[in-house]
Amino acid sequence: MLSTTYNNSFFLLTIIILLVLSFVSPSNAQLSSTFYSKTCPKVSSIVRNVIKQARKSDPRITASLTRLHFHDCFVNGCDASLLLDVGGNITQSEKTAGPNNNSARGFNVIDNIKAALNSSCPGVVSCADILALAAEASVSLEKGPSWKVLLGRRDGLTANKTGANTLLPTPFETLAQITAKFSAVNLNITDLVALSGAHTFGRAQCQFFSQRLYNFSGTGNPDPTLNTTYLTTLQQSCPQNGNGSTLNNLDPSSPNTFDKNYFTNLLNNRGLLQTDQELFSTNGSSTISIVRNFANNKKAFFQAFAQAMIKMGNISPLTGTQGEIRADCKKVNGS
Ligand code: HEM
Ligand SMILES: *[C@@H]1O[C@H](CO)[C@@H](O)[C@H](O)[C@H]1NC(C)=O
Ligand SMILES: *[C@@H]1O[C@H](CO)[C@@H](O)[C@H](O)[C@H]1NC(C)=O
Ligand SMILES: *[C@@H]1O[C@H](CO)[C@@H](O)[C@H](O)[C@H]1NC(C)=O
Ligand SMILES: *[C@@H]1O[C@H](CO)[C@@H](O)[C@H](O)[C@H]1NC(C)=O
Ligand SMILES: *[C@@H]1O[C@H](CO)[C@@H](O)[C@H](O)[C@H]1NC(C)=O
Ligand SMILES: *[C@@H]1O[C@H](CO)[C@@H](O)[C@H](O)[C@H]1NC(C)=O
Ligand SMILES: *[C@@H]1O[C@H](CO)[C@@H](O)[C@H](O)[C@H]1NC(C)=O
Ligand SMILES: *[C@@H]1O[C@H](CO)[C@@H](O)[C@H](O)[C@H]1NC(C)=O
Ligand SMILES: *[C@@H]1O[C@H](CO)[C@@H](O)[C@H](O)[C@H]1NC(C)=O
Repeated sequence: MLSTTYNNSFFLLTIIILLVLSFVSPSNAQLSSTFYSKTCPKVSSIVRNVIKQARKSDPRITASLTRLHFHDCFVNGCDASLLLDVGGNITQSEKTAGPNNNSARGFNVIDNIKAALNSSCPGVVSCADILALAAEASVSLEKGPSWKVLLGRRDGLTANKTGANTLLPTPFETLAQITAKFSAVNLNITDLVALSGAHTFGRAQCQFFSQRLYNFSGTGNPDPTLNTTYLTTLQQSCPQNGNGSTLNNLDPSSPNTFDKNYFTNLLNNRGLLQTDQELFSTNGSSTISIVRNFANNKKAFFQAFAQAMIKMGNISPLTGTQGEIRADCKKVNGS
């Protein structure tokens, strides 16, 4: 009897200690879709409305914002390190790394979203969460899938330009190299193929694919996996020694709509980047059947895309008391 009482109170004490611990050690907290439900209940619609406004004068902005979340998450995790400019503590910005310089865009819209949130819920929503929310709003605004964005990320105190130069994929790599970069952040080939489907909207500059048009890998000929009709069109847009900054639609069949045409294009050898076409044209690759499946089944693509975006958004987030909530997405607080 006595020992039962002792055991019961010991049991109770253990429970209380565990409960207290779960509140005071939030550093390994999970992201949650309801993170701002009390502190900023309208966060999603505020983000969405700023993007809707920007989209009126810039139909490309939804693609650009989707890409920002990707370029943030692959470097240092989803911590808004991509948004930091040089200044104060920050001696190197990811914005000038190869994959971002004169390429990543939409930063002013992120600042507008931050300002809009600042009036409704000052100091509450992190810039890293803004990037995640902006990606979802952007995809769904262009008729793509929508998903419950997991929230609660905090903003980092550092940027890593070397990381941006080495961890982000380039359009000149082999499928094996791309697969390795994704698998380094726990994204598998289903995720890779699904996420590449983001190239169903947005633009790419000639400099990122012109190596395919005239003298591919020193062969003296164009890339043999490039549709010859499409090749002619692209050669007109990107003449040899022309302006490498000229923009081209990543998906000419429906440039601003988030649909499955990216995958249909691949079946027709109409992938714009070498790394796009490789998903379908690498002999023996397990990505081929995934491309076919997505080209035939919009629902399968949309489900896999949403799932992969959530996975990507979970890359090493700062939570709890780690990092901070930046007041200005471009700089660390107090600098
Ligand atoms: C698989 C490896 C990938 C490579 C090699 C790659 C490379 C590129 C390149 C070179 C551009 C053109 C940039 C420019 O011309 O300035 C681009 C654009 C774009 N990328 Fe990717 N990308 C990859 C994966 C992804 C992923 C995972 C996403 C998002 C989930 C994404 C979203 C986009 C979007 C939306 C654009 C158009 C941006 C705009 O119009 O501003 N890409 N990508
Ligand atoms: C400077 O960066 C370090 C991390 O590298 C951080 O701990 C510190 O708080 C930063 N200082 C300021 C003023 O932002
Ligand atoms: C980034 O682009 C600018 C031109 O806008 C160029 O002057 C600069 O050298 C580039 N930076 C790097 C690191 O390549
Ligand atoms: C947010 O509001 C605070 C003061 O309320 C101000 O110091 C800060 O600059 C604002 N940030 C933005 C991005 O508007
Ligand atoms: C930056 O990223 C590179 C490449 O992943 C890594 O080796 C390096 O440790 C990182 N530097 C910092 C300060 O996080
Ligand atoms: C990739 O991971 C997802 C779950 O995150 C899973 O559904 C899918 O089957 C995996 N694909 C491969 C090829 O392992
Ligand atoms: C193609 O590139 C290779 C290697 O750079 C070069 O030797 C060759 O002369 C080029 N061919 C043509 C037709 O330009
Ligand atoms: C190339 O085009 C970009 C915009 O498309 C323009 O800003 C730039 O001045 C052009 N460069 C040259 C050398 O014509
Ligand atoms: C090239 O593209 C056209 C138009 O989409 C298509 O009909 C044709 O089958 C494609 N050719 C090859 C070899 O994929
Ligand atoms: C892939 O296989 C086809 C024949 O099935 C062949 O024509 C092509 O050259 C091969 N491509 C590569 C890159 O090995």
